[in-house]
Amino acid sequence: MTARFTIEGRTGYVTLDNPPVNAIGQPMRAALLEAVRAAEAQFLDRVIVTGAGRAFAAGADAKEFDADPVAPHLPDVLDAIERSFVPWVAAINGVALGGGAEIAMACRMRIMAPMAQIGLPEVTLGVIPGAGGTQRLPRLVGLTSALDMIAFGKPISAARAFEIGLVDAVEDDPADAAFMVNTEALGDRVPVWELPPPDLDPKAISAARARVTAKLSGQIAPQQAIDVIEAGLDQPFEAATAAERATFLALKTGPQARAMRHLFFAERAAPKAAPDVAAHQIDAVGVIGGGTMGAGIAYALLNAGLPVTLIETDQDGVARARVNVERIIEASLKRGLIDVETAGRQGGHLTVLADYEAVADLPLVIEAAFEDMTVKRDIFQRLEAVCRRDAILATNTSYLDLDAIAATVADPARVLGLHFFAPAHIMKLLEIVRGADTSETALATGFALAKRLRKVPVLAGVCDGFIGNRILARYREAADTILMDGATPWEIDEAMVGFGYAMGPYEAQDLSGLDIAHANRRRQDATRDPNRRYIPIADRMVDLGKLGRKTGAGWYRYPGGGGKVEDPIVADLAIEEARFAGVERRDFEPDEIRETLLAAMVNEACDILDEGVAGSAADIDLVTVLGYGFPRWRGGLMHYAESLGFDVVLGQIEAQAKNDPVAWRPSARLRKLAQG
Ligand code: 3HC
Repeated sequence: MTARFTIEGRTGYVTLDNPPVNAIGQPMRAALLEAVRAAEAQFLDRVIVTGAGRAFAAGADAKEFDADPVAPHLPDVLDAIERSFVPWVAAINGVALGGGAEIAMACRMRIMAPMAQIGLPEVTLGVIPGAGGTQRLPRLVGLTSALDMIAFGKPISAARAFEIGLVDAVEDDPADAAFMVNTEALGDRVPVWELPPPDLDPKAISAARARVTAKLSGQIAPQQAIDVIEAGLDQPFEAATAAERATFLALKTGPQARAMRHLFFAERAAPKAAPDVAAHQIDAVGVIGGGTMGAGIAYALLNAGLPVTLIETDQDGVARARVNVERIIEASLKRGLIDVETAGRQGGHLTVLADYEAVADLPLVIEAAFEDMTVKRDIFQRLEAVCRRDAILATNTSYLDLDAIAATVADPARVLGLHFFAPAHIMKLLEIVRGADTSETALATGFALAKRLRKVPVLAGVCDGFIGNRILARYREAADTILMDGATPWEIDEAMVGFGYAMGPYEAQDLSGLDIAHANRRRQDATRDPNRRYIPIADRMVDLGKLGRKTGAGWYRYPGGGGKVEDPIVADLAIEEARFAGVERRDFEPDEIRETLLAAMVNEACDILDEGVAGSAADIDLVTVLGYGFPRWRGGLMHYAESLGFDVVLGQIEAQAKNDPVAWRPSARLRKLAQG
């Protein structure tokens, strides 16, 4: 089904019907055009367009974007609707996004259900509205609101849409309300294209540009959307929409749109890796450890409506943990993310105790204690003693051997890793780690929990650091090598920011703390290949107490707890260590830094794929983008490598291997991919 057309009396009804969200593909466009002609042939009073199911329409069918557009094109269909002598009314029953919102704006009137949302999120797919949105929206809501909605892509509520004039009414039954509109009044309404565009407001334009530069740096679509809106203010509608369409079509097949589309579909494919067995019913969860990570996990669960029992070691720990969670509840309230009633309910759903018996009856317990094998094994032994036999036991370990933790319980099948990312209540990624004995039920429960928490689940196998932290460790090792060989931390950071990361590896490490990676290096001492080059600069930093932001200094200094300042002592430390090691330092250009660090990560990711630790390249893309700040508009690490050419990356690695064959051994998977 695409768009059904029926007639009742003098009213035509068009139902957009392409489950699950009525994406607008070629058959729907053709059916809409057909409906325009049919309504005219019958001289109907009006046509009411609405969506079947939960959506009005989620926009153009992005699955068509790789191919050449096929007629009829949406702008032509919408022109036909708008210029028809039979007025169309949009009854917006559910989400109206992108082309869906554009259909609504081509109608003579818009009536929206209270819970529906409307928006032009095209920039999140790397494009701009391509069917009149950049021209009709400013005519309806003014320049400032239009710039905001189009350049940032965030949908708005029905109440807000009414407030800014995007819709004419908010009604529980929009189709019924559309039927009740007086025929004469409807006939008198001016089509949107005939409304005058708003006046040019250079301040509003430059403010939008500045916000885009700050918030969506590197992305071309938002800036081009502003260009098109600005140019349209003193162009005839037809010329302005033609320019919009040309920009949309050029962006659609460009690298950024491909990358963002790839991630859009990868995010939606990820939950499908769940085993096809019944998950445990989760109605309450235990969390062990109420530090930063445990409190964040507890809040993520509370925010999904799940009661949480948080266990600490003693009464001091209980008090601290409670404060940690309450702080997050307060911050969410302050930011307007929840209302007072919800905050109260969340607080009421939290129990904090120093007694393991309190989690005895819970179906799922997540351990989020200190990253130390002895501590974790001790906790799992206690859980084994108290928990019901079928409880799923998860660890939030980020590096440690899941199988060694699972071995502490009689039935390791019920143990899995649930690796959250800090802050756990905000970050979208959840690595679900499968141990040697993890059952399908435990995994299915992990996936079900991810869905409940609205997180993107990525299945990972056991290895040091799983998918994300293993790639991160290689990234840092390669960065430290460049630091030793001649660059400064800030040169390296700037190079990676230039690639699109919000911050480089050293600033990021200052944020998470240098002690964690230090502990990992000590843990790996026993198994490290003695022939592998070891860079001791980070160890020296820890010896000096430079642990990052929390100590006021790390790779940078943070005087007075404020912004970062380059620290000459750190640069000297690198020079000193290089002298000890007999390294002749040299300059590094930003391009070389970027190329080296990215190639190191790609090679590691290929090994991860080869070992089966990650199920697909798309999973690696999701992990790097959602957990580690890889620029979304580059599509993730493997998508980027593919767009560059795997053979090119292999060449870079082989060149590095000439100097350091141990760290730069090309991955067998990369060789395979390079052969095409
Ligand atoms: N094109 C193709 N498929 C789409 C789609 C689209 N625009 N929007 C959603 N889908 C598919 C999803 O891939 C998913 O497919 P699957 O079941 O096979 O995995 C299915 O619809 C359901 O989507 P979600 O899992 O995302 O369902 P939710 O209920 O969580 O969210 C939604 C629904 C809010 C509509 C969300 O899907 C969404 O944000 N969609 C994209 C909206 C968008 O960006 N529209 C602009 C498109 S570009 C455009 O319109 C250009 C125009 O200006 C010419």
